[in-house]
Amino acid sequence: MLRSHTCNSLTTADAANKTRATLIGWVDTVRDLGGVRFVDLRDREGVTQIVFHPDRPEIHAAAHHLKSESVIQVSGTVVPRSPETVNPKLFTGGVELVAESLTVHNVCQPLPFPMEDDKADKVGEDLRLEYRYLDLRRPRNLGLVKTRALAAQAMRRTLEDEGFLEVETPMLFKSTPEGAREFLVPSRLTPGTFYALAQSPQQYKQMLMVAGVEKYYQLARCFRDEDLRADRQLEFTQVDLEMSFIEREDMYALIEKMLAATWKRVLDMDIPTPFPRMSYQTAMDRYGVDKPDTRFGIEINDFTDLFKTSAFKVFNTVANTSGSVVRAINAKGLADITQGELTHLETIAKTLGAKGLAFIKSENGEWRSPILKFFSDAEKAALRERLAIEDGDIVFFAAAPWAQACAILGRIRLEVSRYLQQRGKITLDPRQFNFLWVIEFPLMLWDEEEKRYLSAHHPFTAPVAEDVPLLETAPEKVRGQHYDIVLNGVELGGGSIRIHDPAIQKRIFEDILKIPADIVQSRFGYMLKAFSYGAPPHGGIALGLDRLVAMLAGRASIRDIIAFPKTQKGQDLMAESPSAVAAKQLKELHIAIVDDGDEAAKK
Ligand code: AMO
Ligand code: AMP
Repeated sequence: MLRSHTCNSLTTADAANKTRATLIGWVDTVRDLGGVRFVDLRDREGVTQIVFHPDRPEIHAAAHHLKSESVIQVSGTVVPRSPETVNPKLFTGGVELVAESLTVHNVCQPLPFPMEDDKADKVGEDLRLEYRYLDLRRPRNLGLVKTRALAAQAMRRTLEDEGFLEVETPMLFKSTPEGAREFLVPSRLTPGTFYALAQSPQQYKQMLMVAGVEKYYQLARCFRDEDLRADRQLEFTQVDLEMSFIEREDMYALIEKMLAATWKRVLDMDIPTPFPRMSYQTAMDRYGVDKPDTRFGIEINDFTDLFKTSAFKVFNTVANTSGSVVRAINAKGLADITQGELTHLETIAKTLGAKGLAFIKSENGEWRSPILKFFSDAEKAALRERLAIEDGDIVFFAAAPWAQACAILGRIRLEVSRYLQQRGKITLDPRQFNFLWVIEFPLMLWDEEEKRYLSAHHPFTAPVAEDVPLLETAPEKVRGQHYDIVLNGVELGGGSIRIHDPAIQKRIFEDILKIPADIVQSRFGYMLKAFSYGAPPHGGIALGLDRLVAMLAGRASIRDIIAFPKTQKGQDLMAESPSAVAAKQLKELHIAIVDDGDEAAKK
């Protein structure tokens, strides 16, 4: 090694021993104090102060010209700092290294942006992503790289201890259009055919169970050509696992153990297990989403029965329509909502298909609302009691089909909680982690657009055994053996017990999902075949590693905790991908580019 110590290791004991040390790293700061020059030298572990005295004129002069972020190597003797210059904030703050030799390994060009956190944070993300290696070099961001590695290590350790075998599965897979939009890779050897980059190792890990691996895991890269958001990337990492001979309870216990070990290792926190569980129905009814944030209340209340006889026609009509509901939430203390905020909430409701967002404000001992005149005293009393309406509150209503009402109030609930946080009326503790299992999902959800049932999770999820007879007669009533692990309103992962009976799997594909038999055969034939050669009962789960680390690190965007993330537009601004390729490459792949520039412009 070109160093004897790291920049975070020298102590007053070294100073007492006059330890000789060689350090190497990046120039953090250079200061000139009355002829003596100080350089803070930084490496991955920390910072050490280097002193250049005028009595070594050569290196003293060179120190004067050191540019920030250049790489230098310094040898010298460790000495104590004088008491008034001790820096208690640094581990090495009691000592400094008196330089006796200096080698400049690399001179850093003028920086494209300042590296101090308070300044760099204000720099546009695009510039920081173009120079991602500089942005990552900031100690706080290197800390995130460490957090991710530590979390991965903790999870690996648990799984290894539990007897899981790490197995790699192909990234070049075949196209399965049932899931997310895929990335296609043209085959050179078989013109006109394509691989698809694996959306997840789902089918391979099930084949590993048929193969007798029993316990598989992988930190698997997954590829999905989705619209990007703060919590979605085109390629992301799953802690992916599968086990044979298990039931749902076995999976809950394993994941709780793994997450507890991870929180202990990374944050030194003891998270209570077992995690609470909530059914999908309850989650939707009370929070409007299948990944409820249970750190605050503002729960949804149902008033469908109340409004069945109401004089307010809008609510009355909806309340008497089968499958529709009238529901409300009380945003406690938000009566001071601004017109802008209110308009924003109405826009959300309208984007989700509502005609409007009725509300009642309770202010200065008075209720105010455009629709108050329609409400009877009994209705008002019921609302006041069940929503615990007090002065300063505002109540929002959704009158709509069940799923739509859930979507509207689920979103409004999150938005108003944000407004209340901004006002200091809700305070969230950054160290509060509400883990939650969401269970008892329906196996199938009706898709209005496609006019057919779609798997709530994926088509390999096993139905609850006693519901199997309902598969053809009442598919919407069949419960799936599916589970999601949710943390503070974020879906960390999901999985299920799988189907291992080829007959049931075939029924799901053909009779319920209505995939034509020949397509089932060409896409999934190999799975059905494998299931007829001794398939064990099995199940698994995948946790989104990026989301999990973002939660551990208290980061809102998973881009922060991915070393080389892509932008919202799917670009790597550092390497400049995607990029055009040479005509020769395309020819080899039997690909022709059709210029639909005009078509694209029309869209
Ligand atoms: P699922 O599709 O629910 O399940 O994915 C599991 C978890 O992966 C994370 N995730 C993502 N993270 C970042 N960017 C994305 N685009 C993205 N998409 C998903 C989420 C999600 O909970 N094969 C099944 C698992 C199984 O059944 O075992 C699967 O892939 O945190
Ligand atoms: P209208 O009688 O249609 O003018 O509606 C009266 C109030 O109820 C307005 O404030 C609308 O925004 C609101 N509203 C209308 N339809 C709904 C609905 N489906 N759910 C909740 N509020 C609604």
